[in-house]
Amino acid sequence: MILFDPERKAPRFESVPKHIAVVMDGNGRWANKRGLTRTEGHRAGEAALLEVIAGAIEAGVSNLTAYAFSTENWKRSPEEVRFLMGYNKEVLRRRRDLLNQWDVRIRWSGRESKLWPSVVKELQEAEKLTAKNKGLTLTMAVNYGGRQEILDAAQALVDKAAKNKSSQRVTQARFEKELYLPDMPDVDLFIRSSGEIRTSNFLLWQASYAEYVFMEELWPDFSRETLWKAIADYSGRQRRFGAAVDSPLN
Ligand code: IPE
Ligand code: IPE
Ligand code: MG
Repeated sequence: MILFDPERKAPRFESVPKHIAVVMDGNGRWANKRGLTRTEGHRAGEAALLEVIAGAIEAGVSNLTAYAFSTENWKRSPEEVRFLMGYNKEVLRRRRDLLNQWDVRIRWSGRESKLWPSVVKELQEAEKLTAKNKGLTLTMAVNYGGRQEILDAAQALVDKAAKNKSSQRVTQARFEKELYLPDMPDVDLFIRSSGEIRTSNFLLWQASYAEYVFMEELWPDFSRETLWKAIADYSGRQRRFGAAVDSPLN
């Protein structure tokens, strides 16, 4: 996998999102369409992730958060869950050195409970190896759920209040300090592959003012060019954050 391919240059964008969140969806359908099993689709998704990481670096994005396994994905068959756990581990081990060379800082967001300890260990090792990198911050959302993250933050505030025998007013700033990664910036661009138009519980708090781009491509068909198409769409949008600009002549 090449980082900078001279044949495939990123276009110039009016504005580049600082934080892109991506729901890597459609692996199962991609595989089934080819007469393959769902797990073959997950295998094919690895190259797409690397493509998107390379494309994000080239476009100058500083944060990329990838949804790899949701708190709802435990509902899948034991075989698929087992495959996904093992495969997440395998991909991290196989790719961490390459990502380290690319100056990527790997982080993990999600819940430890239920997650295989060996997966947690692999995530922590990748975090340690790449901790000092200054390039793209890649957050792998593994056993992540937006509602659960918000509940965990609320619980942490309640526990602190009980311990200190005093309660403080809950503010956005205090609440955000209890999220899994308090320094994660708000999501600017939220991309989902595979044509599904829903968030599936991803980054509910952080994506409250994100621009959403839903794409038809199934995840294994995603490339850096697909990512750049989404960034081009984003850069043509006017973000208002609730404010308004009066321009009656337009
Ligand atoms: C996304 O692809 C990968 C994970 C959820 C882990 P899916 O496995 O959801 O594929 P589809 O949506 O069934 O095609
Ligand atoms: C979202 O995709 C989770 C990940 C990509 C990891 P799903 O395929 O699990 O979501 P639903 O079931 O279509 O909402
Ligand atoms: Mg899916």
